[in-house]
Amino acid sequence: MWKKDEAMDKLIIEGGNRLQGKVAVSGGKNSTLAAMAAACLAPDVTVLENVPRCKDVFTLSEILQALGVRVEFEGQGRLVIDARELSTHVAPYELCRHMRASFYTAGLLLGRLGRAEVPLPGGCSIGSRPVDFHIRGFQALGAKVVTEHGYVKARVQKRRLQGTVFYVPRSSVGTTINLMMAASTASGTTVLQNAAREPEVVDTAVLLTAMGAKIRGAGTPTIVIEGVRKLHGAHYAVIPDRLEAGTYLIAGAITQGDVLVEGLIPEHITALLTKLEEAGIEITVDGEGVRARGRGELRAVDIDTAPYPGFPTDLHPPFAALMTVAKGTSTIRETIFESRFGYVDELRRMGANIRVEKDTAIITGVEYLTGAPVEAVDIRAGAAVVLAGLVARGKTEITNLENLDRGYENLVDKLKALGAKVERV
Ligand code: EPU
Repeated sequence: MWKKDEAMDKLIIEGGNRLQGKVAVSGGKNSTLAAMAAACLAPDVTVLENVPRCKDVFTLSEILQALGVRVEFEGQGRLVIDARELSTHVAPYELCRHMRASFYTAGLLLGRLGRAEVPLPGGCSIGSRPVDFHIRGFQALGAKVVTEHGYVKARVQKRRLQGTVFYVPRSSVGTTINLMMAASTASGTTVLQNAAREPEVVDTAVLLTAMGAKIRGAGTPTIVIEGVRKLHGAHYAVIPDRLEAGTYLIAGAITQGDVLVEGLIPEHITALLTKLEEAGIEITVDGEGVRARGRGELRAVDIDTAPYPGFPTDLHPPFAALMTVAKGTSTIRETIFESRFGYVDELRRMGANIRVEKDTAIITGVEYLTGAPVEAVDIRAGAAVVLAGLVARGKTEITNLENLDRGYENLVDKLKALGAKVERV
């Protein structure tokens, strides 16, 4: 478990070591969060494998426990979810306010109990992050929804949710997953148009299918869900974390090192691999995994973030860190979240030359970064300062590690195994 007293911890990185060696990717954090909620749709026991021990997983476990679900880690990466006794339709504010994915309990509770009272979610400060699409979707499925006193309160009108055709106003991972879950046990067929195509959506659909749901088209913009009366438990391994994998490949790149990330699904990060190659990094994909090797040069490249299979917004801050030491000027245009630039001031403290114009970071590579006290302002901004610290001259001291703990399992051990000089104090 993650403990409150860890909030004062610092990460000290002595920069300058070339990272070399192998690192195994953990299970996907965002896939796991969706899978945990989906598992509870069945009044049964579901076993998830490959679950990362990171703080968001613990927080969602506590939220589910507050609803009456038994959630237990068993050994390495196995999470047993017993949702037979789920009975409460009110999700606790104190826990939900920390995490966007807590809003998956809305789709879960509506699907399972026909009633949900879920606090407006918190999460990383990367934009306004409303839940209006989710709410419109629940309404289209026949729920009556009001937002009052900080809670979204939804209730089915008839006995069950009713199948519908819903156009997701803008590609949204959370909306697609929430509605897919809710529609799984609706009466009739639901068609989600303009659905998100992220691997996490597909993973959730595969799990739900293993639980007895009837879902076609996940991974395409049109998902068809034929509602079934009841779901049952399943045994399922979540996909590897494409964002963690990407972070370690960038660690290899920024230190001009040689890092092999094992166990990932390379197709999930094609956009990143293409951009790393364009920047001068040698990328090899084989049965073992993906290897990123520096060739002594790093060129500036331009990026627009986009929904999958485009360049992921979550790898924008880590890639920006890489570009701070590349030759030339690069632009990174953020198209998903309006305030994804929390990392900018932190990297500037380390000597990076970055300015932000509207939705675009303009980064001119500098010869070297210098270690400095910085903060992990959100999960991926935290990854950006870690990466910068690995290559900076001198000591980087990172605070607010809670954000890194939310999304990265065993960060220190993994970096150390690759030869980084890093300590948590
Ligand atoms: N949006 C709305 N209204 C809604 C829902 C979304 O306007 O009701 C907007 C968002 O503000 C954003 C865009 O739609 O501009 C896309 O947001 P999306 O719903 O796809 O994001 P999410 O489901 O809240 C997940 C991940 C994020 C990741 C995004 C984009 C989880 C728990 N979170 O968020 O991951 O950045 O998809 O891929 O799965 C992270 O892991 O660090 C992280 C922030």
